[in-house]
Amino acid sequence: MNIYVPTLIYSEKDCVKKYGRIMSKTGRKALIVTGRNSSRANGSLDDVINALEENEGQYVIFDKVEENPSIETVMEARKLGIQEKVDYIIGVGGGSPIDAAKAIALMIGNPQCDESILWENTMRRYLPVVAVPTTAGTGTEVTPYSILTIHEKRTKKSISHRIYPVLALVDYKYLKTQSQEVLINTATDALAHLVESYLNTKADDLNKMYSEKGLKLFGEIKDKLKNPDEAVYMTLSNMAMIAGMAIAHTGTSLPHGLSYMLTYELGIPHGKACGLYLGGYMKMYGEKDKPAVDKVLEALGMESVEAFKGYLKELLGDVEVPEEIMKENAFGMMSNEDKLKNYPFEVKREELEGMM
Ligand SMILES: [Fe+2]
Repeated sequence: MNIYVPTLIYSEKDCVKKYGRIMSKTGRKALIVTGRNSSRANGSLDDVINALEENEGQYVIFDKVEENPSIETVMEARKLGIQEKVDYIIGVGGGSPIDAAKAIALMIGNPQCDESILWENTMRRYLPVVAVPTTAGTGTEVTPYSILTIHEKRTKKSISHRIYPVLALVDYKYLKTQSQEVLINTATDALAHLVESYLNTKADDLNKMYSEKGLKLFGEIKDKLKNPDEAVYMTLSNMAMIAGMAIAHTGTSLPHGLSYMLTYELGIPHGKACGLYLGGYMKMYGEKDKPAVDKVLEALGMESVEAFKGYLKELLGDVEVPEEIMKENAFGMMSNEDKLKNYPFEVKREELEGMM
């Protein structure tokens, strides 16, 4: 068993302002990596800029990260970062800008290399990354993962390097401007992280500290997601971060592996796509190890797998996935060793086809 959480975390209201000095001391000049709109709307970009200026930190902004960031975007940001001689990266936004920030940190750290190094298994230098998350979902502020979209292969994949942010400034107030849809989809992503981490080949007594705690937190707010108050935002924010710590130790499993195709081919948001497979995963897992699934249900405060499935259906609504996509997806999954190895039992293609 082992535990590794190398990120310095401050999770509290106004933490960007309070700990701006620590952020600005990460380097001499920052590349702020963000999306086009939301970090302006929720105030996080202004908070980061003000904190840097108050502490005489230099910066340049790259604000073109799209949802499900591509390698092309990473390479464009790298060009700006090298030109501007930045020596650290601040990712501001949801999972996409922070995931992109990690890949950009690697590419700037290796200016002579092309994008193929994203997928190779050698140690490489990379710039320090600071994360300012504005959604409660991916937990990327505390994980080593960076998921990029590979258009050539029509899918998404994590880069092979493990890049933990050195600092995470987690302020739940940024969640308040989110639409209900984004809040629910991202919260479902975090729920999937917790379930897939607890029901995982690599789950052990030590790392289950995270998934158990996160599942209990989700249980506290599960009926308030459509009508959140201040306390719900705070719990959501911590729950998603703890879920990130859980998957940092175990990785995710079959629902995540199957979700990527739904996002790429049908445009279903990541968390929702994972959520569609989550009930089926619990059912399948429960047929092999019922006590483990019962523990998950107990932590969530739910009575049965059927109740869990019903809850998700209510939360996410009805989604039609064409049969040929389900089949093709299951077929592709049978060669996804990274995800299959996190499911401790043998699995058949037909089981995956019907997992929804
Ligand atoms: Fe996820």
